[in-house]
Amino acid sequence: MSGNDQKRAAAAAALEFVQPGMKLGLGTGSTAAHFVELLGEKVRAGLDVVGVPTSEATRGLAKHAGIPLTTLEEIPELDLTVDGADELDPHLRLIKGGGAALLREKIVAYASKRMVIIADASKKVDVLGAFPLPIEVIQFGLGATEIAVRRAISQAGCDGQIKLRLRPDGHALVTDSGHFILDASLGRIAEPEALAHGLAAVPGVVEHGLFIGLASDAFVAGPSGIEHIVRSSN
Ligand code: A5P
Repeated sequence: MSGNDQKRAAAAAALEFVQPGMKLGLGTGSTAAHFVELLGEKVRAGLDVVGVPTSEATRGLAKHAGIPLTTLEEIPELDLTVDGADELDPHLRLIKGGGAALLREKIVAYASKRMVIIADASKKVDVLGAFPLPIEVIQFGLGATEIAVRRAISQAGCDGQIKLRLRPDGHALVTDSGHFILDASLGRIAEPEALAHGLAAVPGVVEHGLFIGLASDAFVAGPSGIEHIVRSSN
């Protein structure tokens, strides 16, 4: 199976969790796009569900697929969110935000009874951190926020380069909610909880890409099949 086939296989596995009448959070990224497409096929065949997209990109895909959409203002509690991840560890702690949608993704996941991750095998790691950690920050006071973020990172025992995420044209990337992203290349995050706590305490940080205690299950597709990982209470 190619990487793309693995993503689609993981998405198809998560579809088994969807029941008629469910209110769904729809994730962002290339793996979540497979889920949206497969869900759209079911909807067009008569499945009755409603979705809350985690990005404008996903809103467009879901609309095109014919999935009825709503907002967290109209429906503030969801049954299930299905989303991709940039990294997942054995405790189902995640790094997310490679697609710059981490803020809405976390709000939607937090509003859901259950979050299921879909991924190809390349996303599974023993220790988080090889993927640069996205940190969404307010545009105001960027320099001061960056210094405070560096301090929080070092207090959590990590070290590495921090870069403002740029668009291909060289301008700063602005998220769907109007913020910047700092990408922290840390290599190894030995204590994700401590780092998450430290980053959350920085005033200019809107949200960070560490998702801890949110995912209940993951479907990870590899060359030899699909692994279903269930989070144990750790
Ligand atoms: C979007 O902001 C991210 O959290 C994505 O879920 C993550 O980057 C995974 O994307 P892919 O499925 O494209 O790898």
